[in-house]
Amino acid sequence: MKRICFLSCQDLDGHIVDDHLAQKELEKHGEYQVDWINWDEETDWKRFDLAIIRTTWDYHKRSAEFLSKLNVIASQTTLMNPASIVEWNFHKGYLKDLANKGVAIVPTVFFKDTESILLPASWNYQRFIIKPAISANAYKTVIIAKEDLLSGKYKTHLAAGDWLLQPFMEEIKQGEVSLHFFNKTFSHGITKTPKVGDFRVQEEHGGLIQNYTPSPELLSIAHNILTQIPSQLLYARVDLVFWQGQWVLMEVELIEPSLYFRMDPQSVVNYKRAIDQHFQSTLA
Ligand SMILES: Nc1ncnc2c1ncn2[C@@H]1O[C@H](COP(=O)(O)OP(=O)(O)O)[C@@H](O)[C@H]1O
Ligand SMILES: [Mg+2]
Repeated sequence: MKRICFLSCQDLDGHIVDDHLAQKELEKHGEYQVDWINWDEETDWKRFDLAIIRTTWDYHKRSAEFLSKLNVIASQTTLMNPASIVEWNFHKGYLKDLANKGVAIVPTVFFKDTESILLPASWNYQRFIIKPAISANAYKTVIIAKEDLLSGKYKTHLAAGDWLLQPFMEEIKQGEVSLHFFNKTFSHGITKTPKVGDFRVQEEHGGLIQNYTPSPELLSIAHNILTQIPSQLLYARVDLVFWQGQWVLMEVELIEPSLYFRMDPQSVVNYKRAIDQHFQSTLA
């Protein structure tokens, strides 16, 4: 029997967790035992054969501490996803790397709170989004009108650090697609649609979650994004929006995405298969 640790956090109030469905599938035939441990606890990580980052949903407020703890865990057991890829995925600057490799991302200007924003001449948008480069769950993500951008009024919203400016995509009202991959193999898809009057798609903000079957074209776009990432990925969630006639990448979630197991009974089977493959490959 292999021992697996699901990394979590102390306060999950207000969050919807469905990883117990994955736990149930993993433990069904006695092949695995799953323990939930808060990432900031002190424990002997060596007793686990694998630690999987799951519901660590307070990390963006304690990012340096979280990253250093992941390195401690990774020095004692196998961590998934690997700490190096988590570090890369931590800061939304990774979108720039993917854009440089030809991935269509949401057009983005990266800026620091201490800098003025340089608007590209070709940007004829009236509304914008600003969001922190280190974020989750739409934390500090707001719409800014053009006049507030030009007058500098947006600065009152900023906290110290790196930020992203993007055109506000009205199409978000039709939803954001999330495609889940285990070991880079497609498992299941959903859409997240904001509640009326909101633009944030997360269910914590009232968003509606529905099953979604991607077209072969969209699947190949998402798969191609993952092939640009040179790392083993036990899990990955690719979030895209259909905007101005094409699919653009909102995020690749490689740290602690909700995996929406409750939406598709096959998803936990796919997840377990990926974990089986991980252990088979370490034996080989
Ligand atoms: N450019 C944008 N246009 C419209 N909505 C956006 C835009 N950027 C972010 N959002 C909304 O804010 C949410 C959070 O942004 P996202 O980039 O996914 O960061 P995170 O999930 O890490 O907080 C998105 O799921 C979407 O609902
Ligand atoms: Mg997101």
